Amino acid sequence: MAFAQVGAMVQLKNMALFKSQGLIGGEWTDAHDGRTLAVNNPATGEIIANVPFMGKVDAQKAIAAASVAFQPWSKRTAFDRCKLLRKWFDLLLENKEDLAKLMVLENGKPLAEAIGEVHYGAGFVEYYAEEGKRVYGDIIPSPFPTKRMLVMKQAVGVVGAITPWNFPLAMITRKVAPALAAGCTIVVKPAELTPLTALAAAELALQAGIPSGVMNVVMGDAIEIGAALMESNEVRKITFTGSTHVGKILMAAAAKTVKKISLELGGNAPLIIFNDADIEIAVKGALHGKFRNTGQTCVCVNRILVQDGIYDEFAAAFTKAVQELQVGNGLEAGVTQGPLINEASLEKVDKHVQDAVSKGAKVLVGGKRHSLGRTFYEPTVLCNATDDMLIFREEVFGPVAPLMRFHTDEEAIKMANDTEFGLAAYAYTENIEHGWRVAEALDYGMVGLNETLISTEVAPFGGTKQSGLGREGSNYGIDEYLELKYLCLGNIKQPFMC
Ligand code: SIN
Repeated sequence: MAFAQVGAMVQLKNMALFKSQGLIGGEWTDAHDGRTLAVNNPATGEIIANVPFMGKVDAQKAIAAASVAFQPWSKRTAFDRCKLLRKWFDLLLENKEDLAKLMVLENGKPLAEAIGEVHYGAGFVEYYAEEGKRVYGDIIPSPFPTKRMLVMKQAVGVVGAITPWNFPLAMITRKVAPALAAGCTIVVKPAELTPLTALAAAELALQAGIPSGVMNVVMGDAIEIGAALMESNEVRKITFTGSTHVGKILMAAAAKTVKKISLELGGNAPLIIFNDADIEIAVKGALHGKFRNTGQTCVCVNRILVQDGIYDEFAAAFTKAVQELQVGNGLEAGVTQGPLINEASLEKVDKHVQDAVSKGAKVLVGGKRHSLGRTFYEPTVLCNATDDMLIFREEVFGPVAPLMRFHTDEEAIKMANDTEFGLAAYAYTENIEHGWRVAEALDYGMVGLNETLISTEVAPFGGTKQSGLGREGSNYGIDEYLELKYLCLGNIKQPFMC
């Protein structure tokens, strides 16, 4: 496609948000060697922008800029930082249509979901603007009459944030907002597939008055940029959302410079529907929990375990609901399911379905590529799924819902916990005592009881086992960007006795 045509289909109210350069030290910047990377619309295959394909040298410049900005930023008061973050929040919401449109164009998600993501993403900025004011320390009762002991919390330093394509805004603000509120500066590497929303958000951060170098954005060669972040002694913290495979590589690499690290990795979420569930509520929950973002979230339901007393009734009602989903270009009215992000994702989804069918699963609806072509896949329900199928073990990351039958509570909990992942799990029952015991037994970082939409800035998001380390969101999330400093005051004289 001719250069002039690229970007022509991106019509925003505020074209200043359509950025196609990286941001280093407050300057919009090309890659040092001029390389570029095409950003595609997964719904149409069109190239919507060419952005710099940056590498190690560019990442090192961004780290240097973040290091220079760290002292002045961390020395400001939390109240001062709050004002700027709050302004950023306002600008994100004022520009929500444009941000959402960029997201649909580069990610494919339906417009209504993209608008929802702007609210979700901006929520982290609003929340942490205030939370920065509550970074309290402690005074420890001293065991020694001549000593006083205190703990203060200080910004960890320069942060490297590596974010995924499935939430092009929210996964950035979920990291940047607590980092900046704590007094850290940051180098963000957004996914190569979806850099445009990140760049627009960075432009709004500049417009909000967040100083140059506090937030930098570099994208391109993931290996080179990752290496620069991991090798740098100045980068004191890495925060990553993505696959367990890459998370393990980062964790090993962090050892070289002993960096603080938080990881939000893969999941394999079970949804357990007991005989005592309200079937109508459970069908809605399964639909939202499975098909959000066309099944492309780490907390998406991956396995639906249904007790035999309601299995057939649930399967029929759920299949009917899935048949009503509208597949198409996310900018078209009424569309609820967009394309998958790329051909590799489509192939993986199809492989899981073929594998399940070859091992005895039955397709109730869907089960193949959509007639729209490209990376569209039919929303799919499979029944008779079993634990020897790939879909039981691996995250499908697509619009496929396998139903498995169980008889007893113990069997369901055993199946649910039979995975190396531990991000989110869900259960439906109308009996609160039953639900409470089930929630306690699930080895997961997050449990939704009669609810599958659990993500919010006010609650701690994160997993156990190979789903990661640390928590994002809530009052706990800011701790990931803080170091504790113990201060001992010695030689305190006898207390006044008056
Ligand atoms: C993710 O898929 O990594 C995040 C999902 C969410 O925030 O709900």
